[in-house]
Amino acid sequence: NYYAILMAGGVGSRFWPVSTQDFPKQFHDMLGTGDTLIQKTFHRLAKLIPEENIFILTNERYNDLVLEQLPSVTKRQVVLEPAMRNTAPCILYASLKIQKENPDAVMIVAPSDHWIEDENAFSENVQQAFNFCSKNNALMTLGIQPTFPNTGYGYIEYDKTSAEAIKAVSQFKEKPVYEVAKQYIAQGNFLWNAGIFMWSVQSVVEAFKNNQPKLFTLFENGIEVYNTDLEEDFIRDHYGKAENISVDYAIMEKSTNVYVIAAEFDWNDLGTWGSLYDKLDKDDSKNAVVNARTLTEDASGNMIRTQDDKIVVVDGLQDYIIVDKKEVLLIFPKTKEQDIKKVLQNVKDKF
Ligand code: GDD
Ligand code: MG
Repeated sequence: NYYAILMAGGVGSRFWPVSTQDFPKQFHDMLGTGDTLIQKTFHRLAKLIPEENIFILTNERYNDLVLEQLPSVTKRQVVLEPAMRNTAPCILYASLKIQKENPDAVMIVAPSDHWIEDENAFSENVQQAFNFCSKNNALMTLGIQPTFPNTGYGYIEYDKTSAEAIKAVSQFKEKPVYEVAKQYIAQGNFLWNAGIFMWSVQSVVEAFKNNQPKLFTLFENGIEVYNTDLEEDFIRDHYGKAENISVDYAIMEKSTNVYVIAAEFDWNDLGTWGSLYDKLDKDDSKNAVVNARTLTEDASGNMIRTQDDKIVVVDGLQDYIIVDKKEVLLIFPKTKEQDIKKVLQNVKDKF
């Protein structure tokens, strides 16, 4: 009865210029392991879940990339979205499809672009969650010990005095402002939300029904045609009407049956060049260099990713991101990495 939803519809704009709207980061081998991020995620999930029960949710423009990179996946497993509406609409839609196929399904919802080192620890945590969710009406999260007031994550408040591995959550707060995030961290009973969720299909559908009645009705109206030839037409006509909202705001912040397991594996969101830099091997001067034909001198802390055939010399630069593609060269301070999103917008407006 185990199922997975793999979310692969984001654009990854802070990884520009490697990640682009036509070819987002989850389809790149960002870590240099030989596998793209979506391939790594798929294989991680396939250790826990029958392959035919892993569904990939993505925008229709990435259909070919998914089929190319995951050749064992069938058409049934690729759920295509005709519009970008963030994670709540696609999770609800896919959950209703799965519920129609198997009302007893217990599932994991996972992003396609994370780095997880210890896959055995990951599997154990998910198994623990699956056991709990098959018996309880629960929305299960995986929590990460926070290290600084990151405002790009969700925060999970839990009962620190509880000795149970699975703890009840008293508050889920998505992307708090800096001052609030700082306060949470000082309080000591908050974890970062890893963005990986586990629940029974019944519980998640219920959560949408109670907290997002409009969204629920929009997709519930199509239930008759899901998993039939008529589905595509229905979705084409209706998907765009869905509110643009993430699952975190849509149901996690509003529900009272949220639980957390403190993750026993190392986790990295791989959201920015700096987070990638942290995970790559560094040379003696702490430069992460992807292309072997690179010479560095009086340069340290740089993230340098250029094209294989190019000779690159970097001298006198500290803590920079240097990324070179055929049509774009980016030289940008690592401390301002969050601004790459804005830069990309400026570039689009100008050229
Ligand atoms: N199919 C589909 N459709 N996938 C999408 C869409 C969409 O419209 N939008 C985003 N995704 C995918 C992304 O590719 C990514 O794998 C995942 O959904 C999460 O989206 P992000 O946009 O990366 O979310 P976030 O990083 O801002 O926040 C989430 O993740 C954090 C941890 O990385 C939240 O769950 C936070 O609470 C959490 O801390
Ligand atoms: Mg993310």
